[in-house]
Amino acid sequence: KTLVLLFGGQSTEHEVSCRSVLTIKRAVNQEKYKVLCIGITKSGEWIPVEKEESIEDGSWKESAERAMILPDAKLSSVLFLGKNGESHLEKIDVVFPVLHGKDGEDGTIQGLLEIARIPYVGCGVLSSAISMDKVYTKMAVEKPLAKIGVRQAKYISFVRSQWENQEKIISKVEAALSYPVFVKPSNAGSSCGVSKAKDREALKKAVENALSVDRRVLVEESITGRELECAVFSGKEGQVESSSVGEILAAAEFYDYDAKYNNPDSKTELHPDISGEIEEKIRKAAETVFLAVDGFSLSRVDFFLSGEEVIFNEINTMPGFTSISMYPMLFKKKGYSIEELVEKLLESAFH
Ligand code: DAL
Ligand code: MG
Repeated sequence: KTLVLLFGGQSTEHEVSCRSVLTIKRAVNQEKYKVLCIGITKSGEWIPVEKEESIEDGSWKESAERAMILPDAKLSSVLFLGKNGESHLEKIDVVFPVLHGKDGEDGTIQGLLEIARIPYVGCGVLSSAISMDKVYTKMAVEKPLAKIGVRQAKYISFVRSQWENQEKIISKVEAALSYPVFVKPSNAGSSCGVSKAKDREALKKAVENALSVDRRVLVEESITGRELECAVFSGKEGQVESSSVGEILAAAEFYDYDAKYNNPDSKTELHPDISGEIEEKIRKAAETVFLAVDGFSLSRVDFFLSGEEVIFNEINTMPGFTSISMYPMLFKKKGYSIEELVEKLLESAFH
């Protein structure tokens, strides 16, 4: 079978994806799959990548070759264009879109693959789109989570045009929440455009910052608590399988992009000091969230633990697969090697 690994992408999580794809590529059973890597540059060029080293050092971006998935249901192919304009078609059987954030984790690439009738790993169009959007995620999970006694942070959301009436939004925020608050773009990943505001002046700046990333923004109650994460898998059998719970020990004030990927002091703990009861509650909540957004294949669901209270934070439908990422580590703890996990994920594409 021919497998295409898509990586990079135009989102703010481009670099994370370049690291995730290396983990996945090395874990694919090369006897079963012929692997073609296609990198998407930050400016949106699709480039066939042959050498793993060129992903490591970033030199793949300099290639003049191009690759494109044809949205042609009969061909299900990739068209390769050489640097002198020569071209050839290659039939593909499955795609693993190892893309995080916008244009990769939000249903858009999934839509292209649907139209091309190519099986792919991960959540479908609807669940990807809902899960990428913080406000819509909240709407989808509110009731199912309430039933099992798990809440989420209180919030106010608005769009750019409403922000023209700043005073009105600010008074709404101040009536519903107390400082400090978190301001977030509704649609973004790895904490890009997110900031904490301690007062009204900071709130205004934080909203401008968030609006530079997305036209829809939410202001959220600030939750202080431990950060716990749970990995979820579901294959064609339909059974949802959750991992044990891991903890993020962030080095920064909150687990922002830099703390997540550049700060060596951020640590992951696979044996957090929590009761069996809390662990079970988080696992149940992770499965509940996954089902509430109509998830499929994989996701990592993130929570806060504030005292004894479990509070849902977010779901990532294409979680990181870097060497320090929780998703593969949690399933490893469950007994799946990275090779077995990747095989399970590839199998899930053929549902
Ligand atoms: N959004 C990043 C890749 C993660 O959640 O792991
Ligand atoms: Mg994310």
